[in-house]
Amino acid sequence: MKLRHVYGIDMGTGSVKIYDRNNNSIIKEYNMIALRGKDNVFAVGNDAYDIFEKTPENMELITPMSGGRIQNVLMMEAVLHLLLRKTGRFAGYSPLLYFSVPLDMTELERRAYVSIAQKGRFKRSRVLFVEKPFADAFALGLPVEDVEGTMLVNLGAQNTEISILCKGQIIINRTIDIGGDRLNAAVVSGVRKKNSLTISQRCAHRLKITLADLAKDPVEGCKVAGIDTESGLPRDGIISSYTVSSCVREVVSEIALEIRRLLERIPPQIQAVLQKEGIWISGGCTRIPGMDRCLEGMLDYPVHLSEHFEFTTIQGLKEIIDHKELREYAFAPQRRKYGML
Ligand SMILES: Nc1ncnc2c1ncn2[C@@H]1O[C@H](COP(=O)(O)OP(=O)(O)OP(=O)(O)O)[C@@H](O)[C@H]1O
Ligand SMILES: [Mg+2]
Repeated sequence: MKLRHVYGIDMGTGSVKIYDRNNNSIIKEYNMIALRGKDNVFAVGNDAYDIFEKTPENMELITPMSGGRIQNVLMMEAVLHLLLRKTGRFAGYSPLLYFSVPLDMTELERRAYVSIAQKGRFKRSRVLFVEKPFADAFALGLPVEDVEGTMLVNLGAQNTEISILCKGQIIINRTIDIGGDRLNAAVVSGVRKKNSLTISQRCAHRLKITLADLAKDPVEGCKVAGIDTESGLPRDGIISSYTVSSCVREVVSEIALEIRRLLERIPPQIQAVLQKEGIWISGGCTRIPGMDRCLEGMLDYPVHLSEHFEFTTIQGLKEIIDHKELREYAFAPQRRKYGML
């Protein structure tokens, strides 16, 4: 067993993923914390999600990240350290923490990451940053330095991050505020229109996971409980896969439109390379069956699917931690080596 503890940390808006090199394990938990009263932690991670939309009056449910950025430093710190405690008994000598971070981080955000990391038994930890698109590229096994032009699209909880990688540089990076939460909202609104039933976000999330299918139109349905929009009374309803999938398809077409707008603005020689190399998609939303083929049809570019789905970024951090030759892609908070041209 190695003496120095090394962790990879991907603090996503929806969930936190942690790679523990010493145990060779990856955990994923909802990025949520439930407080009872002002500062009494009641539950964290998946336990906190259990009370999502069922929160009693004396409790508050907090999601510390918003749109891929740190929103509440104190709560993010609490979530991270309580989850880190789950991965092992002790932090070891001078632990090393690799964080995946956005490309356009502000000075304040850099400090926030460091302040969140260096708490309690991690007070003496060393912090290193890896920009998310690079982590994704390593997870996909791309030869980053030699790539002539590849587009990476990460479909997360609240955002879709689009990056173009060319010869070891991110030449274009754009974040659009459409992600899995928007898909849930679209399902809520679609069910309200089609079935005259108001359902919760949590229920929409479940419907999306069980019924959304962009590859075929299965004639499946799912019984859910909701509130009748006319009578205002609780009732059950059967929601079809068709309803859910068409809501999802509408949002996916919005994402495709944004990607196409970006593609139209890039130089023709890079467009030509992308036509050859294709677009790599990753993130939790790509678990929806047929997402790759659907985007391929909408974009008219070849689309490849990451086999790691929402674990792509953390898998990339793992690659960097486990392979010495990739470590140059990690940098100390006061330094910035790789980035946009
Ligand atoms: N099987 C599934 N089918 C459909 N959607 C899914 C599935 N599993 C997860 N998702 C969705 O993926 C989204 C979370 O993806 P991911 O974990 O990549 O985001 P994140 O890293 O937490 O957020 P971000 O990168 O935007 O900060 C959620 O909206 C979730 O509902
Ligand atoms: Mg993410």
